[in-house]
Amino acid sequence: MTKVGIEKMAFFTSGYYIGMDELAKSRQEDPNKYKIGIGQMQQSVIPASQDVVTLAANASDRILTAADKEKITMVVFGTETGVDNSKAASMYLQELLGLRKEARAFEVKQACYGATAGVQMAIDYLTLHPDEKVLVIGADIARYGLQTAGEVTQGGGAVSMLLSTNPKIVEFEGKSSFHSENIMDFWRPLYKKEAVVDGHYSTNVYIDFFSKTFDDFQTKYSMTVNDFKAFAFHLPYTKMGLKALKTILPESNNVDGLLSEFEASKKYSAEVGNLYTGSLYLSLMSLIANSKTLQVGDRIGLFSYGSGAQGEFFSAKVIADDEARTVIKNQVDELLAKRDSLTTPEYENMYTESLTADSNDHQNDSLPDTAKFTFGGVKNDKRLYKRFGEIIE
Ligand code: COA
Repeated sequence: MTKVGIEKMAFFTSGYYIGMDELAKSRQEDPNKYKIGIGQMQQSVIPASQDVVTLAANASDRILTAADKEKITMVVFGTETGVDNSKAASMYLQELLGLRKEARAFEVKQACYGATAGVQMAIDYLTLHPDEKVLVIGADIARYGLQTAGEVTQGGGAVSMLLSTNPKIVEFEGKSSFHSENIMDFWRPLYKKEAVVDGHYSTNVYIDFFSKTFDDFQTKYSMTVNDFKAFAFHLPYTKMGLKALKTILPESNNVDGLLSEFEASKKYSAEVGNLYTGSLYLSLMSLIANSKTLQVGDRIGLFSYGSGAQGEFFSAKVIADDEARTVIKNQVDELLAKRDSLTTPEYENMYTESLTADSNDHQNDSLPDTAKFTFGGVKNDKRLYKRFGEIIE
């Protein structure tokens, strides 16, 4: 079988966050509910000068060389925060990054599952076209609304992944189990920018889908929990992944090991919040970057979940050596360390401004944003993007 996997991956989020102590104080909640009960420490706040296109462009720009761009013949943009009801975000991205035009470029939506659909499509595509490369994006802005139960689980950012037959981070094994059903646990009606969610129900469905797909996987491939060194979960809030992990610990002969790998995998999500479709892949980056014990050749289980609902459990083998892991760690640690913290009123203003950022003709000049790619506003219903502060004509 052709070896297919992730050759490079990068993460990008905005330069702003709100700490959960600050948010809890403003919402008259015990900070431990947010930090221990939900498992979040900080939450990225995405200003009006960033959207999923610029988040994805800023992430991808960190990893793609001219040689990579020549080889990319498929761009799959996973998002549930699309910037147009018709046009795919991948078209804007293709132009911002200077990707070749002889490519398939499109958007995939199934709540937080979109990027996994892209990854699985890329595996099939690369098996048939081993000399090419595929860019898969998971980019979203998770909005539940101010002073809602889901507010503590907001966040945003993009993970960009270059898949090829020359993997350097993980190699997929071509083993996978999936389950889908029409369920109303979380959705976003066409007129809304904020999610409608039945949070406790969604937690139960998530765990149920994890059990179904992991059970099926074990039967199909004659494996048990003990064939896995670590698990990476979709993490809308980090306690959710822990709840799923705990359902399989009774069968494990390495409970402490799995719990400590989980700690490594949740570190970045706890500081960024929900990324929706990029979340599983930030968890994978966090595991690769922060695990003290993961070795080349170890098997990881990945659980992807998109409300509505689609679940998929699949496996990969670690390829990243210490050097590759340090590159990922330095990249994400530096990005997160550079962010500015916001007070609750500052966060609320930024949140409210970003809700209406693309509704009328305007220029986004209110905030200094030092990212290479920014969203410049709207003119004649057309989106404007900036590179180093200059509108791209
Ligand atoms: N110290 C420590 N833990 C505390 C605490 C305290 N002072 N106060 C409460 N907790 C714990 C609770 O025991 C609970 O733990 P448990 O889940 O292990 O039972 C947890 O904190 C959350 O408390 P709860 O009362 O259930 O919170 P909530 O009703 O405000 O809702 C969510 C929490 C997660 C359901 C809500 O934030 C939400 O809906 N988020 C969106 C979820 C989502 O995105 N789903 C779809 C994507 S898959």
